[in-house]
Amino acid sequence: MQKDRILVVEPCILAIESSCDDTSAAVWRDGKLLSNVVASQLMHDETGGIVPEVASRAHQQVIIPVVKRALEDAQIRPQNLDAVAVTRGPGLMGSLVVGVAFAKTYAAGLDIPVIEVHHMEAHVLAHFATENKPEFPFLCLTVSGGHTQLLIVRGPFSYEEIGRTLDDAAGEAFDKSGKLLGLPYPAGPHIDRLAKEGSPKFEFSKQNIDGYDFSYSGLKTSILYFLQKEIRKNPDFVHENLTDLAASVQHAIVESLLIKVEAALVKTGLSQLALAGGVSANSGLRESAEKLTNRLGVKLYATPIKLATDNAGMIAAAASFAYAENRFAEDDLAPSARLAMRF
Ligand code: KG4
Ligand code: ZN
Repeated sequence: MQKDRILVVEPCILAIESSCDDTSAAVWRDGKLLSNVVASQLMHDETGGIVPEVASRAHQQVIIPVVKRALEDAQIRPQNLDAVAVTRGPGLMGSLVVGVAFAKTYAAGLDIPVIEVHHMEAHVLAHFATENKPEFPFLCLTVSGGHTQLLIVRGPFSYEEIGRTLDDAAGEAFDKSGKLLGLPYPAGPHIDRLAKEGSPKFEFSKQNIDGYDFSYSGLKTSILYFLQKEIRKNPDFVHENLTDLAASVQHAIVESLLIKVEAALVKTGLSQLALAGGVSANSGLRESAEKLTNRLGVKLYATPIKLATDNAGMIAAAASFAYAENRFAEDDLAPSARLAMRF
């Protein structure tokens, strides 16, 4: 890492996120977000999932307009920037490459440093892009389309992972269950919306995993067999029970997450719980987490939804900590699809 930079006290940072199917750029200055533009790729609902080459091409198409818009919204000129931050990984290689190549070239043109950011660290640190910031240490449940983690967060880059999924991520559990119900990809937000109209009257098999780890393959199989059985009796079963099915799926996933969160809060004695990642946008999860934390006397932190799903604002927040620690990327920075988190 380069160590010879003279750091400014309140840096102005352009942040880029392109790890999956959202192209996003944000501008950060004086410890807060000035803009956060997200262009979501909507074509993937037709294929029922992300086609990596299609995602990569779409990032390539929109990255310049998205960056221009973020600078305009923030009323910042490129010459005012002190660094460019970018998601190095984990994610889809073809998607990451677009953001990393853009960030390196843009920064080289301005002769300013690049800050590499880990996507999952950024989800955790998204809370610092809001007014309502937790204090270290806190417990963080990070639930996204690719990850499910329970972390003790001791500092901006100091974590202890005490729980993880053994198979599917919580977001995948939402998306795959939703696919079985005929919902478009990504199904999480649709399940959330439908669940509000239904009640969780169907029971699916519960995860049975020791410690703080999670597992969702059993839930998916249980839903599949249940639906096959009911559809044999009534071909319109899903259509006629869609809201109750959505509520039941949501209830099963939320319950499986919060059982582990409660055990971890009790065991660690931590007094703050943060929810991070796209699934933390789920209203059922937020409501149940609120009840749980009220009961335990723990403070709950959930970001606004735009900062919970993929966005460059969280990359900027993480980058501001890296900047303060003088952590800059080398010139040969390359994306990493399976980048490990620093523990
Ligand atoms: O963090 P994120 O935007 O991207 C990844 O890093 O994966 O998370 C995307 C995941 C998808 O699985 C999506 O279905 C889920 O978050 N999601 C939701 C909701 N909004 C997004 N799941 C349940 N309820 C929601 N409201
Ligand atoms: Zn994410």
